[in-house]
Amino acid sequence: MSRRTGNGEHERALSLRLGAAFSPATPVNETTLFAGRQQQLNKLADAVNQRGMHAVLFGERGVGKTSLANVLPEFLKLAELNELSVSRVNCDSQDTYSSLWHKALRELQVATQIPMAGLRPVSRTDLATLNGFFPDEPGPEDVRYGLQRLGSPVLFIIDEFDRIQDEPVHRLMADTIKALSDHSVNATVIIVGVSDTVDDLLTEHRSIDRCLIQVQMPRMSPDELSDILDKGFSQVGMTIGEPSTEFITYISQGLPHYTHLLGLASGRAALEEVRKDVRLEDVHDAIAAALRQAQQSIRMAYHSATASARPKTLLKEVLLACAMAPVDELGYFVAADVRTALSSIMDRLYDTPAFAKHLSQFCDNSRGSVLQRSGKRYRYRYRFSNPLMQPYVLLNGFQHGLFTLETLAAMSRSSA
Ligand SMILES: Nc1ncnc2c1ncn2[C@@H]1O[C@H](COP(=O)(O)OP(=O)(O)OP(=O)(O)O)[C@@H](O)[C@H]1O
Ligand SMILES: [Mg+2]
Repeated sequence: MSRRTGNGEHERALSLRLGAAFSPATPVNETTLFAGRQQQLNKLADAVNQRGMHAVLFGERGVGKTSLANVLPEFLKLAELNELSVSRVNCDSQDTYSSLWHKALRELQVATQIPMAGLRPVSRTDLATLNGFFPDEPGPEDVRYGLQRLGSPVLFIIDEFDRIQDEPVHRLMADTIKALSDHSVNATVIIVGVSDTVDDLLTEHRSIDRCLIQVQMPRMSPDELSDILDKGFSQVGMTIGEPSTEFITYISQGLPHYTHLLGLASGRAALEEVRKDVRLEDVHDAIAAALRQAQQSIRMAYHSATASARPKTLLKEVLLACAMAPVDELGYFVAADVRTALSSIMDRLYDTPAFAKHLSQFCDNSRGSVLQRSGKRYRYRYRFSNPLMQPYVLLNGFQHGLFTLETLAAMSRSSA
């Protein structure tokens, strides 16, 4: 049967528009493409609406923290908080308390009166960035004083806070939040970063617990991920069938990056066939493209975790079984679940000792520590060091025929 290829102008235009509807590499910054997360948005909005309250937004890498922070101002507009000024900054490993506040304050502008020479006293209004009105090395009280004098409401979103290495920043930031809260200053600070707990992200938070709303970002639910696909495809007048949505959702494991990656590639595969409805066969076609486009660092890490000069090492199969094992809310799984998945992949029963060595190798530096281990012996829990590795392992396993949709169906029947 001849394969129809969509070289038409219409398909090319749609293919380009798909690239705007799905953005695997960049956070979402418009509400029309933003899916779910209502609960977390409400909590952050509460922090902004309640004087003296601030927030910390934390979760695994890649779960959608920056996207949530990006759409928050738009969401607040719906609540008619129009006059709010917003400053968004990304921290880097070199940042100190003063460099961070200078970056944050230069995002905001204030009107100043410049006196002009002449017989009559006249002046013109100019815009200046706010950092010019603060000392070079501000302390928490300087920040509080300056923002209090500013008067109008302001929101600071401080992203990638986990990258800061300068220890005193944590204490000084907690002091700042305390000072802003005690003086009821009309400013809100939202600290965002990769972390399992608030303790890890903002070590000095205890003194400010009462004025800090803690928002944990879980992985996205299957419904939220399917909403991403519906929103993306409806932007360009395309649709996606239920089995394709289910498969993409399964592979994504709650991590929206892969939903965007596979949504984009499967949409383009459908357009190649001059179709606007995405089918399972398009998702299959999309997997090779998604593997090629996955981050170089993930591809390298997969290779060093599974490469071996000897055949039949089971390294790829065991890592795949780890990726299929059900996880708790922090991404941890146990060896018993790996055993079930491995037995399904290999179609014969495996016991834990058969792959215990593989699990410890995966935690070892020599295999790039693709897994992390916690807990006590015989009660170890494992998780992927980089959560984004888990869907990659699934993609790779599927591409190389290590499992099929039937394997998944059989696994879900046996766990039901
Ligand atoms: N609610 C959402 N709706 C649609 N797409 C989303 C949503 N949240 C995140 N995404 C998509 O998921 C990917 C990762 O999102 P984002 O960069 O916001 O995550 P993050 O938690 O900030 O990641 P990191 O930990 O690396 O900073 C991006 O492609 C983004 O477009
Ligand atoms: Mg981010």
